[in-house]
Amino acid sequence: MVRIALIGAGQRGGDVYSDFISRHGEETVLTAVAEPDEVRRRIVAERHKLQPDQVFDDWRLLLEQEKMADAVIIATNDDMHFCVVEKALEKGYHVLVEKPMSNREDEIGKMEQLADAHPDQIFAVSHVLRYTPFFRTIKEVLDRGEIGELISIAHNENVGYYHMAHSYVRGNWRDGRKTSPIILAKSCHDIDILLYLTGSHCRRVSSFGSLKHFQREKMPEGAAQRCLDCTFQEECPYSAVKIYSDNIEDWPANVITREHTKEGIRKALRETDYGKCVYQLDNNVADHQVTILEFENGVCATFHLSGFTHSISRTIKLMGSRGEIRGDMEKNQVEVYHFATGAVRTIDTSAAKEGHVGHGGGDEGLMEEFVQSLERAVFGTEKEQMTSSARISAESHKVAFAAERARVEGVVVQLKSGPAEDQFRLPGRDICSV
Ligand SMILES: NC(=O)c1ccc[n+]([C@@H]2O[C@H](COP(=O)([O-])OP(=O)(O)OC[C@H]3O[C@@H](n4cnc5c(N)ncnc54)[C@H](O)[C@@H]3O)[C@@H](O)[C@H]2O)c1
Repeated sequence: MVRIALIGAGQRGGDVYSDFISRHGEETVLTAVAEPDEVRRRIVAERHKLQPDQVFDDWRLLLEQEKMADAVIIATNDDMHFCVVEKALEKGYHVLVEKPMSNREDEIGKMEQLADAHPDQIFAVSHVLRYTPFFRTIKEVLDRGEIGELISIAHNENVGYYHMAHSYVRGNWRDGRKTSPIILAKSCHDIDILLYLTGSHCRRVSSFGSLKHFQREKMPEGAAQRCLDCTFQEECPYSAVKIYSDNIEDWPANVITREHTKEGIRKALRETDYGKCVYQLDNNVADHQVTILEFENGVCATFHLSGFTHSISRTIKLMGSRGEIRGDMEKNQVEVYHFATGAVRTIDTSAAKEGHVGHGGGDEGLMEEFVQSLERAVFGTEKEQMTSSARISAESHKVAFAAERARVEGVVVQLKSGPAEDQFRLPGRDICSV
């Protein structure tokens, strides 16, 4: 049985990883937790029957002890990942860290160096999309050559209007200077999946987008500062009263208060930023961003990130020389069109598994591979890195930072692995290298 310590027992740590470990008691056990929030810490400690000397209120305290587990899962906020990873690897732990690996570009390079310095330890990133039956199916269809040569991809991340308001206007990721630009925070996953599907490296990237809607000048005249006091409650799609009043036990309502009652929600709407008008906050991350990527193998992709969509989903179209793949992740459906015969094949990719099916089954798939890799590393002789190793994942972060630079500076960014930069100078646009 492999032993895991959990650092950060918030939504991901507490709801996803601790839950997985408690459902897989034959293969894995949680042997320590570090979490400053008393309630979250207690929930995990009780669920895993931890003794007081296995429970800490800060990651440093846990990592100061003699090794307490084979691996640590790091699910703290983005800006803390690097220091925790560095210390954990130094202590000899195998590591699974949440994405983004870091919100600082310089730390991504340092993480690559850490991976190289600790080749015998698993060092992986929670890029859960790589583990979904949906994207794995698409990759298999591509690799079988069913649509011929891959020419281009149109990928959409439909953030969902209420998710946009919750996380990127009112919530943790609203200030790109303190956390990350949205293309990194929300979409390093998507860039990673484009790298996975093309099987190539990104050569050039350009990007456009802005914070177009969620700002003061778009506020209806006379709107109140808090949705509870606002006369536009009925007609405003972003009214916090609407977003948080249903399904109070579930996301996103369960994030804004620990008191999962109507009164608890009202109190949070009265006292926290989650109850404020979306047009009167200090948010600064883009609410839509369109990125164009060119890969070394000549495949081109557009990636459209939008906060203005009805549902939370990913939709993708892959265009090949002999056919087309269309996928809708929310519907768990992949359609393969064959030009020569006119045949259409529909594949249902529902994650036919019990338990937590977050991220289309990706959370479960990631943890299954993590535990299996740990078993091999701890009890066997194999020291294989995971599908979402830090080394592989770092590239998507570098491309995300490059896309953000392209958006902010209005340039086409040439990534180092590509050909000579002046070959690609476009009229009227600058090129900078990263
Ligand atoms: N893989 C994915 O698809 C996915 C999805 C959502 C979030 N995330 C990432 O997961 C991470 C956690 O996100 P979340 O939504 O769970 O946030 P969260 O705020 O719910 O959880 C973070 C936890 O870290 C704890 N923490 C803070 N300081 C600490 C310290 N000194 N020692 C130990 N713990 C400490 C906080 O108290 C909190 O409970 C973030 O990096 C986020 O970007 C990944």
